[in-house]
Amino acid sequence: MPITFDAQHNTFKLDTVSSSYIIKIYEEGYLLNLYYGAPIPDAYVPHREKRWPSASFSLANPRIGENGFTPDTTPMEYGCNGAADFRISALAVRNANGDSVTDIRYTGHKITAGKPEIPGMPSSYAADGEAETLEIYTLDAVTGVKVTLYYTVFAASGVMTRRVRVENAGAAACELERALSLCVDLPCMDYDLITLHGRHNRERYMERRPLAHGLQGVESKRGVSSHSQNPFAALAARGATEEYGEVYAFNFVYSGNFSALAECDHNATTRFVMGINPTDFGWHLEPGEFFDAPEVLMVYTNEGLGGMSRCFHRFCNEHIIRGRWKNEKRPLLINSWEAAYFDFDTDKLVAFAHEAKQLGIELLVMDDGWFGVRNSDNCSLGDWYVNEDKLPGGLAPLIERVNAEGLKFGIWYEPEMISPDSDLYRAHPDWCVHVAGREPMQGRRQYVLDVSRADVRDNIWQQMYAVLSTNKIDYIKWDFNRNISDAGSALLPPERKKEFFHRFILGTYDLMNRLVTTFPDILFENCSGGGGRFDPAMLCYSPQIWTSDNTDPIERLPIQFGTSLCYPASVMGAHVSACPRTGFATRGNVAMWGTFGYELDPRKLTAEERETAKAQVAEYHASYDLIRRGDLYRLISPFEDPHRAVWEIVSPEKDRAMLTLVTMRRQLHAHLIVRLRGLDPARCYKNETTGEICSGALLMNAGIVLSGIAENDGESVTVYFTAVE
Ligand code: GLA
Repeated sequence: MPITFDAQHNTFKLDTVSSSYIIKIYEEGYLLNLYYGAPIPDAYVPHREKRWPSASFSLANPRIGENGFTPDTTPMEYGCNGAADFRISALAVRNANGDSVTDIRYTGHKITAGKPEIPGMPSSYAADGEAETLEIYTLDAVTGVKVTLYYTVFAASGVMTRRVRVENAGAAACELERALSLCVDLPCMDYDLITLHGRHNRERYMERRPLAHGLQGVESKRGVSSHSQNPFAALAARGATEEYGEVYAFNFVYSGNFSALAECDHNATTRFVMGINPTDFGWHLEPGEFFDAPEVLMVYTNEGLGGMSRCFHRFCNEHIIRGRWKNEKRPLLINSWEAAYFDFDTDKLVAFAHEAKQLGIELLVMDDGWFGVRNSDNCSLGDWYVNEDKLPGGLAPLIERVNAEGLKFGIWYEPEMISPDSDLYRAHPDWCVHVAGREPMQGRRQYVLDVSRADVRDNIWQQMYAVLSTNKIDYIKWDFNRNISDAGSALLPPERKKEFFHRFILGTYDLMNRLVTTFPDILFENCSGGGGRFDPAMLCYSPQIWTSDNTDPIERLPIQFGTSLCYPASVMGAHVSACPRTGFATRGNVAMWGTFGYELDPRKLTAEERETAKAQVAEYHASYDLIRRGDLYRLISPFEDPHRAVWEIVSPEKDRAMLTLVTMRRQLHAHLIVRLRGLDPARCYKNETTGEICSGALLMNAGIVLSGIAENDGESVTVYFTAVE
């Protein structure tokens, strides 16, 4: 049983294959966080309950204070504001009196098989027998606010999820000032905080810093999970490496503003919290109303960052990605954006399709520029009807001709935006996100559409439905090309104005949910100026996300290495483009570690490039399962080595592996031996390039020599290994 209750010690124990987690119901109903770490058989950790670390001026509950118990230095399960726990709090509720003292105590619990959904919000899912859920019920006796703490244990995957529901069961309205999804108290501060920072064209660079006393962390206030910081954070033991050492990792299933903060206190313990960013957040709860906070995925491993990533990857593929394209082979696509930008018409797209077919490509995506009068990025968002100057007769004749060439057809949308120069804006200027009396800021000469409003969503949905229900569309790229400022909705009353950011995200989820349930066969790729909304929540709708607008294969290396910290290759949009920095082969080798596709004018390829492309397409088919289901090993990281990057993917059955080396900068006289990982030491493997056969043990311990291979700037090589019986 992954979740057990120990009546003797009043503890809950939550076990996965790689972790144990213990919660204690203490005197007066306080919930303590006794343990999170490697699996232990015990249901109780005495020193975490009784030997409270001392602190200066700590305050006590008068009824049990003589024990030495103080919320200030105790590992609390869900730290609340204002009742003597002075560390960063997960919950603050302002009551009708105007104070924000919040103090929840245990009232009951329930353990059930499976995993309940969160109404209106994406979350991970479990098939029968894959998960158990613990609900712990608590009450703030003064306000009558009830808080339910949810824990789902996916025992076989090593992952737990957490979230909370706050319900106003009192007699008066109250205001939720913060409602974070997770709080974890760890007994020391010997950790490095690892996060993924970036910007447009340089997403998810890994950053590692030692924890220090006080508060530290990352957040987004941009209305989206953002390019700037990904909603991921890990606490890695000081010496933890790629393959060894303890790591606690957290990934937020949410696409809006977030906080991921660690606080180290005077006793050198660490509290980590994650949830919706309390800045610009508030939620008004009338009696009887409730608020659901989004879910956090939690991983503990003692197999270093590589172990953490492999755990997230398997979980994402099994419990986040859903629908037809979870397991079905996805078509190999070519996208028109870098090939044509806004300059295309039916004939040009059909010519792309014709050439692409010769290479073995299966789907043509018509990117931005097909609607309204959009010939540049300064107009027409919101006018989702076909530009017949470019596409005479509409989409149907184009799609027929593309299909006749043997390709499927995909299309681009940016549904949550509105251009000031659009028919929609002229008809409904109040539909853009804005606040009274201020002129809203523009980004890429566009405003954000207020999709927190049902009437606005219905309009956009009707426009999309008109196109999608009457045309054979196989793929949609859903874009979002600016951040949100001037946050407000004309329909929200003053006491609910701070709900806007979250309501906006709920509106987006509603639209996406309509799309995937009405058109379950459409393959959906998320995008936000590249990877500005690359988060597990988006992956609940869209099985792949465009990783970055930067398609330079050398600059892609840190982007893909960073992204791979928590997201699998199956979701990382990666294309071969016309970037001249390296040869065609290296562009293919880098894009192969992702969804793989093309983003160039296929008519302009040289004869040699065409042959290389055909070989890449063949390799894509041959290694499709290996790359999507395999275990990733980052052998040499571009964050650590200025000269090269090396990664390896091993099939779950350990019968196939691929190893790719990309040289970023030539290193004279380098002697390079790379030791493989993840193979079966007892089996023999054939190097498909050299024909050599040797044991997995040899490949992992003695390694292979890569000196003299692909050693010039921009060169690369992929070597396959196959188990021989
Ligand atoms: C964003 C995307 C690009 C492309 C353009 C179109 O920047 O990331 O791939 O779709 O929008 O305007």
